[in-house]
Amino acid sequence: MKASAVANSNIALAKYWGKRDAKLMLPHNSSISMTLDGLFSHTTCEFDGKYRSHIVILDGAELPEGDAKQEVTIQLDVIKEMAKIKEFAKVVSNNTFPTAAGLASSASGLAALALAGSKAAGLELGKKELSILARRGSGSASRSVYGGFVEWQKGVKSDGSDSHAVQIADENYWKDFRMVVCIASKKEKKIKSRAGMAQSVATSPFYKSWIESVESDIDALKKGILKKDLEAVGSTAEHNCLKMYATMISTKPPIIYWNPASMSVIHSVLELRDNGMKCYFTCDAGPQVKIICLEKDSKEIAEMAARIEGVEDVIVSGPGRGAEFVKRDLF
Ligand code: DP6
Repeated sequence: MKASAVANSNIALAKYWGKRDAKLMLPHNSSISMTLDGLFSHTTCEFDGKYRSHIVILDGAELPEGDAKQEVTIQLDVIKEMAKIKEFAKVVSNNTFPTAAGLASSASGLAALALAGSKAAGLELGKKELSILARRGSGSASRSVYGGFVEWQKGVKSDGSDSHAVQIADENYWKDFRMVVCIASKKEKKIKSRAGMAQSVATSPFYKSWIESVESDIDALKKGILKKDLEAVGSTAEHNCLKMYATMISTKPPIIYWNPASMSVIHSVLELRDNGMKCYFTCDAGPQVKIICLEKDSKEIAEMAARIEGVEDVIVSGPGRGAEFVKRDLF
């Protein structure tokens, strides 16, 4: 009744921002991401009668009762129900990158838990079911089940059975695609994406326009990825990110994740582009800026980013593998 898995994080090229069903984690819009090579969570899960309640240990510290633990326990309870078991679980998970700093550690952690938890409970699930299960913990986790370029199809059914990820192209398809991740702060963000997106749906006057314009970005991204067209993918992703930020900034009270270092990175990307370099930016619910480019330019871009005041770290990552079982248990 113990199993372990690893899953890479992912960064969205067309963002998920807003839920039509908060309990089942059903989104208002489809989204597209790239699974990041080397930025992963390693998770071990065990269901056993000796546990009096679920225990979750993240990066060496036990999570107290609260939102972060709840993401995990909700998924564990879904697994218990599916497997028809009564035992509680112990979960130990380690990340290779700063937790809750806009690098979607919940995506990798909860995708890894979907695999480890379901196996520990005696279930044998296919990729689609694993994506649906990961989604119940955190929406973006549904995409980390697959490697390479991935679409989370929003689905239309009220039970969520058609809201899951599918692979557009695997991690070997476009090998020289890169994201240069610029860490503009390792501090935990003040507003979690879950609360932020709910506020945007409720109060942003631009939310309706966001939803109306996402589907055409999805089409453009899918075509761009399949043609390996960096300009199409980068410019669509950048515009999509800015549209999501327009809904964030116009939320009441406002949500502004950028800090001065994020702004400096964004301006540098625009300047490099004016000088002929093909690079584009995207950001999520945090100050980190990810620069989309090709491998041949990634070194120069990473060196430029590392010189910017306030940039604490720079990580270059390409398309990574989907979630998989591993033999090494963490306890
Ligand atoms: C801005 O998946 O973290 O990164 O489903 O509430 O857990 P929950 O939210 P989460 O939101 C991710 C938001 C985003 C965009 C994206 O990854 O698509």
